[in-house]
Amino acid sequence: MHFFTYRGGELYAEDVPVRLLAEKYGTPLYIYSYNTVLRHFKAYDEAFKSYPHIICYALKANTNGALLKLLANNGCGADIVSGGELFRALRAGMSPQRIVYAGVGKTEAEIRAALKSRILMFNVESEDELREIDRVAGLMRVKAPIALRINPDIDAQTHPYISTGMKEHKFGISIKDALQYYRLAKSLKHIAVVGLQKHIGSQIIKIAPFVDALEKILALLDRLNSSLFKIKYLDIGGGLGIPYDDEKPPVPADLARRLLPIINGRKLTLIMEPGRSIVGNAGILVTKTLYLKKGDGKDFVIVDAGMNDLMRPSLYDAYHQIIPVVQNRRASMTSDVVGPICESGDFLAKKRKLQRVQKGEYLAVMSAGAYGMSMSSSYNSRPQIAEVMVKGMSHSPVRKRATYEDLVKDELMPGFLK
Ligand code: LLP
Repeated sequence: MHFFTYRGGELYAEDVPVRLLAEKYGTPLYIYSYNTVLRHFKAYDEAFKSYPHIICYALKANTNGALLKLLANNGCGADIVSGGELFRALRAGMSPQRIVYAGVGKTEAEIRAALKSRILMFNVESEDELREIDRVAGLMRVKAPIALRINPDIDAQTHPYISTGMKEHKFGISIKDALQYYRLAKSLKHIAVVGLQKHIGSQIIKIAPFVDALEKILALLDRLNSSLFKIKYLDIGGGLGIPYDDEKPPVPADLARRLLPIINGRKLTLIMEPGRSIVGNAGILVTKTLYLKKGDGKDFVIVDAGMNDLMRPSLYDAYHQIIPVVQNRRASMTSDVVGPICESGDFLAKKRKLQRVQKGEYLAVMSAGAYGMSMSSSYNSRPQIAEVMVKGMSHSPVRKRATYEDLVKDELMPGFLK
């Protein structure tokens, strides 16, 4: 559910016409709906309220500071994967005791920063990493709280690039070796074993993989807790899908209904790491039609947003709905919607049936709030685009459009070229 709707043939972001925002802030433009983000966060919080839980928003989906602040203000924590994300989460006011840190390649500096901030726990992905965290914690004379990320070998049935929970993936520790790794963790002086984590992939639109993975890791957790361990945090990762087209993914209440009865009776704190399902449908990308081009047996709508602004179609062949900002009664057309980047892979949609558009008209690329801006770049020297947040009738820029000067501001000129 989101708050981008048509009123009288015009697309609105909450109570503001999208056209007005495009005219005021220029295009391409990311627009986020405050109330949609809040609603999605609350849907999780409500659904799991009968069980102790922490919602750790996966920053990688969208790191805009205003969006993080909105989540922090409502008690949301963070799932981070880098020192940069730690910095952003703390800066937004997220409590360190609600921060979990994943990722296969944490550096010493990043581990130090996280220990210094006293985050809730590291989600550890390998033996080498475990030993490194122990070493760094020793140098700092602290104990590092950790969970092991267990790879349950479950097929998330999603795009192969965003599936992570099978044994061939680089993530986590194989479930069959888990016990041995937990024993090792317990033997390390500067490690405190507090949790168990799994995350099997992203854009999962069926409930079965969540249930199967949970059952598998709970069996392990019970075994651990019945012996030497006191595991308090059960982190089930993120991955809940959203409708991009006509998918009907489960909602947090469906997840809670299926997962809580399985967990109940155990004294744990449940951690979830949703990213896409919080922000995905809370953002759109607005783009302007620059040209219409008739190719040989194919038509193109050339727009001012490119793969550098929204990479998902090019990278994963991902589907994003594209709809007119102002509806008309013209017949439909079938076209590729492409950007200005000099690559054939630069498209937002292929063979897409659209309402006939004209030069200068705006289009909205839907469900672009997750992994849109956060994966964008300035490829082809296109300055990164602006972001705006709408709340009811108010709107405010939350990131200004970069300039040409921004493109070069961090470059240095060697003496021998001056
Ligand atoms: N936790 C961990 C450990 C993760 O690796 C991820 C996502 C999440 C949580 C959040 O997953 P979500 O709830 O957003 O599905 N760029 C891709 C998605 C990559 C996801 C990476 N990990 C895309 O645009 O579809």
